[in-house]
Amino acid sequence: MRQRVWRVITAALAAAVFSATAILAQAAESSERLLDACLACHGDAQRGALPNVPALGAQPFDYLTIQLYMFREKMRVVEPMTSMLAGVKDDELKRLAAAIAKLPAPLPADGPTDAARVERAQALVVQHRCNFCHNRDYSGQQNVPRLAAQREDYLLKALRDYKSNARRGYDATMDDVLYPLNDDHFRDLAHFLSRQR
Ligand code: HEC
Ligand code: HEC
Repeated sequence: MRQRVWRVITAALAAAVFSATAILAQAAESSERLLDACLACHGDAQRGALPNVPALGAQPFDYLTIQLYMFREKMRVVEPMTSMLAGVKDDELKRLAAAIAKLPAPLPADGPTDAARVERAQALVVQHRCNFCHNRDYSGQQNVPRLAAQREDYLLKALRDYKSNARRGYDATMDDVLYPLNDDHFRDLAHFLSRQR
């Protein structure tokens, strides 16, 4: 009798494990397909493919998860991101963030480097401690994004969007940081950061 009960329990457990695996396998496949659609726009050749579309590779997992969540919740409103992520479940957001965080870091911009702009940007970085929060090599950490080798046009847009309040951060950090800075500063910073490895 005892043995029969045990056999029933083992069979039930095996069935439960089997269905969880099947569901996970299906979910993994759908994340992969979704990620292909994402990279068609974001570029996967270590360089953002399109103007104003950020490269995503090597962004910290926490930063990605928070931003995907903010798009979904319409706290960061920008198309097509807001509508693409509408209704996507938390687990799926985390799976996407984990997959993206593992993609290789973007390659630095290969246009000519303007020494005067680099020098001005380096002074701003020290004065405003960009390299404290974003890491010494601008690789980002936790909820702070990677900036190194990001597209120059996107960096400039991001800084302008914080300044004009078109983009709301998860907290007010960047609003405070950028308060004393103007568009000339932003152009120097974007030029410099897009060329960091
Ligand atoms: C048709 C183009 C397009 C597609 C497809 C697309 N994105 Fe985006 N994505 C953008 C643009 C444009 C931005 C920049 C928004 C801005 O200017 O703030 C962005 C921003 C992001 C950001 C924020 C990056 C940062 O540095 O803050 C993440 C993360 C992101 N997308 C992930 C995804 C994921 C995941 C998918 C697939 C589910 C996806 N994107 C599909 C165009 C696209
Ligand atoms: C006190 C910490 C801190 C400092 C100092 C700081 N940042 Fe940030 N930065 C953040 C955080 C946190 C975010 C993410 C905010 C959000 O949720 O949108 C961010 C976001 C950004 C983004 C958006 C990147 C993307 O992928 O969308 C840019 C660009 C940026 N910072 C540039 C700078 C520059 C340039 C400086 C120096 C002038 C600087 N930051 C100083 C914490 C900081």
